Amino acid sequence: MLKKSIITGVGHYVPQNVVTNNDLSARMSTSNEWIIERTGIQERRHVLPGSDDTTATMGTKAARIAIANAGLTPDDIDFIVFATLSPDYYFPGPGVQVQEQLELKREIGALDVRNQCSGFVYSLSVADQFIKTGMYKNILIIGSELHSGGLDFTDRGRNVSVIFGDGAGAVVLSATDDANRGILSTHLFSEGKHAKELALTAPSTRDWIPNILQRNDPEETDYYPYMNGNFVFKHAVVRFAEAIQAALKTNGVSSEEIKLLIPHQANLRISQFIQQSMKLRDDQVYNNIMRYGNTTAASIPIALSEAYAEGRIEKGDLVLFAAFGSGFTWASALMRW
Ligand code: COA
Repeated sequence: MLKKSIITGVGHYVPQNVVTNNDLSARMSTSNEWIIERTGIQERRHVLPGSDDTTATMGTKAARIAIANAGLTPDDIDFIVFATLSPDYYFPGPGVQVQEQLELKREIGALDVRNQCSGFVYSLSVADQFIKTGMYKNILIIGSELHSGGLDFTDRGRNVSVIFGDGAGAVVLSATDDANRGILSTHLFSEGKHAKELALTAPSTRDWIPNILQRNDPEETDYYPYMNGNFVFKHAVVRFAEAIQAALKTNGVSSEEIKLLIPHQANLRISQFIQQSMKLRDDQVYNNIMRYGNTTAASIPIALSEAYAEGRIEKGDLVLFAAFGSGFTWASALMRW
């Protein structure tokens, strides 16, 4: 019989430096009111220049907490899956940095997943397959992002730079023989025709850094993230619902039975829209975007770690994860805790 996989440990780490909406309005033409009205975000964390925090080290800090929370030691980890869109290096990805920083044995693989805002749910799905087949027992899954070093904090980039924040979350996914618990399903989707609607297109192998330096054009902005905000918003509300309905339908579960929906923290207005369309009560949806902004691949594991610490999830509860983002990619995972 196939194994089931359960989350046995959670953890998160965010940099100490809090950046409020008023801090941002000192740097660009925006306001606390505008940001709260459109996104629900009140503050986010930014790594301070010169600090030791990087995407990899923040991921390692979150991972240490998740491993301890699972009652394990780093030696018990069989495999690493690391999701990020903001790696320390162009290559290699940060999975191997975690292998080194946690002083893990060499017999474990380190896999890097892209998939941006859906990165954590995609990683959960990948790890679930390795556990189901019996190949691995304990897999470390990390989502970590350092956005603040790469955003355009001028008026030009204000629709993007007010939204994103830095931080990391991690879980340990473990094998169980308990047939009543674990991941019930994962659903993954993609639609590449919208790739450029939310993208960072430079530098790229088509147009590498020497070309950009040679042009030396101050109006060139390809090396900042671009987002067609309205377009992304309209697709997000439809695609989140699609991924969630796929999970409910596959498992014959109604929305009343969901103990907690943890959506990717894209925008509070998107979460509220989904909550309304699914007719969920406030206590059935977890949001913390107000305090951290959108931390992309890190947002679900950070939210899960906080929700768990607050006692919002107990053994036997149905927990639903859903995400949508750049690609476009979107995904859901339903689990019995
Ligand atoms: N502060 C003040 N004004 C701003 C601003 C900011 N930070 N950012 C944009 N504006 C301005 C625009 O310049 C525009 O001004 P104009 O009407 O004079 O041209 C106006 O506000 C409206 O811009 P628009 O882009 O249409 O705003 P919006 O209502 O779509 O809200 C987002 C912008 C980004 C908040 C919204 O589109 C959104 O949340 N999209 C989805 C984002 C998301 O979830 N991304 C992650 C997906 S995983």
